[in-house]
Amino acid sequence: MRVLILGGDGYLGWPTAMHLSARGHEVAVVDNYFRRQACHALNCEPLIPVPNLHQRRRRWEETWGRKIRVDIGDLCDYNFVSRVFREFSPEGVVHYAEQPSAPYSMMDRQAAVFTLTNNLVSTCNLIHAVREFQPQCHIVKLGTMGVYGTPNIDIEEGYLEVEHKGRRHRFLYPKEPGSLYHLTKAQDGDLLFFYCRMWDLRVTDLNQGPVYGMLTPESRTDEGLTSFFNYDAIFGTVLNRFLVQAAAGAPLTVYGEGGQTRGYLDLRDTLACVELTLLHPAEAGQYRVFNQFVETFSVMDLALRVQEAGQELGLSAEIVKIPNPRREAESHYYNPAHTGLLDLGLTPHYLTRAGLVEMLQLVRRHQERIDTSLLMPTVTWR
Ligand SMILES: NC(=O)c1ccc[n+]([C@@H]2O[C@H](COP(=O)([O-])OP(=O)(O)OC[C@H]3O[C@@H](n4cnc5c(N)ncnc54)[C@H](O)[C@@H]3O)[C@@H](O)[C@H]2O)c1
Repeated sequence: MRVLILGGDGYLGWPTAMHLSARGHEVAVVDNYFRRQACHALNCEPLIPVPNLHQRRRRWEETWGRKIRVDIGDLCDYNFVSRVFREFSPEGVVHYAEQPSAPYSMMDRQAAVFTLTNNLVSTCNLIHAVREFQPQCHIVKLGTMGVYGTPNIDIEEGYLEVEHKGRRHRFLYPKEPGSLYHLTKAQDGDLLFFYCRMWDLRVTDLNQGPVYGMLTPESRTDEGLTSFFNYDAIFGTVLNRFLVQAAAGAPLTVYGEGGQTRGYLDLRDTLACVELTLLHPAEAGQYRVFNQFVETFSVMDLALRVQEAGQELGLSAEIVKIPNPRREAESHYYNPAHTGLLDLGLTPHYLTRAGLVEMLQLVRRHQERIDTSLLMPTVTWR
């Protein structure tokens, strides 16, 4: 299959490119290096230096003997998007290319406008390019479980059957995002759903939970092929922050009570989910939604697990609660459905102590690059 990966320089984009290329798919990646530039500008570099896309593409070709096409450009520029579509004619597109940080989106007006514009215009350009050049192409867009918020009822997979005054209708599941970034992920979903109804597009929205892990079969033996590992308060995820805090001998900082519960998954499962989705495309006119996660943890569960894994390496990490910079429920009901991808054949990886110890060892190999000043939150929601 010819697969175009938008956001191919990113944490998920590059491992996806290698995964699909290793399995014989023809892969092209597009990126404008927004993520790298934002990390430079905010002085929050990833823990492990990441070669640029051209360097990683060369390394991939030399070691695996397979080609990946690279185009550097902005998806908000329709001329650029049109050229890529005309030249590559993708059968599937994986759309990762958005501003993905909740704190970044809440930083100030400029970051808010950038997040809105970037995430919606890139999606809108993609929709128009598919209609103009490849109307049968399947769009796989990365969404987030964060669009649902934490309602006091079970979260279904994308849709909710409602009975009202004796009549029934199937609606998109109500969205209650908790940051501007998450709001844009609800909006890009609405945009895609709209154009499925208008133009018979084929779309799958993967509402994904936070992803953890660095090593995939393609990068395990070659650090030159790894992906971003951010641990700072803007682009880092909570688990990465705890791992770095444990390695640096700093306390694990839990926001508020730590009862915030989310669905998590291993990077290798993201790659498997995306490939399974591409191999089983949505029908024409179908806006299909899968909830993409494997198991749920509260923030406190994660802190305790990292503390325990640290003990195996002789690290004694203290857990401290700090005021929550976000506005979110710190203890709540959470029961989201997630059977769609299991039905397609996903065989999940679970978060084990051995896996956490391996991640801690990786962090400790790069210990000299840890900047502890990046660990505390700098952006507040209020
Ligand atoms: N990583 C996670 O835990 C997670 C969880 C849920 C959802 N997601 C979603 O998955 C997607 C990828 O996440 P990630 O962690 O790999 O983020 P990332 O920032 O590492 O990757 C996104 C890439 O897209 C590029 N990009 C952004 N705007 C662009 C534009 N206008 N033109 C060209 N390239 C552009 C960035 O430079 C970056 O390399 C995002 O849409 C995110 O919302 C990620």
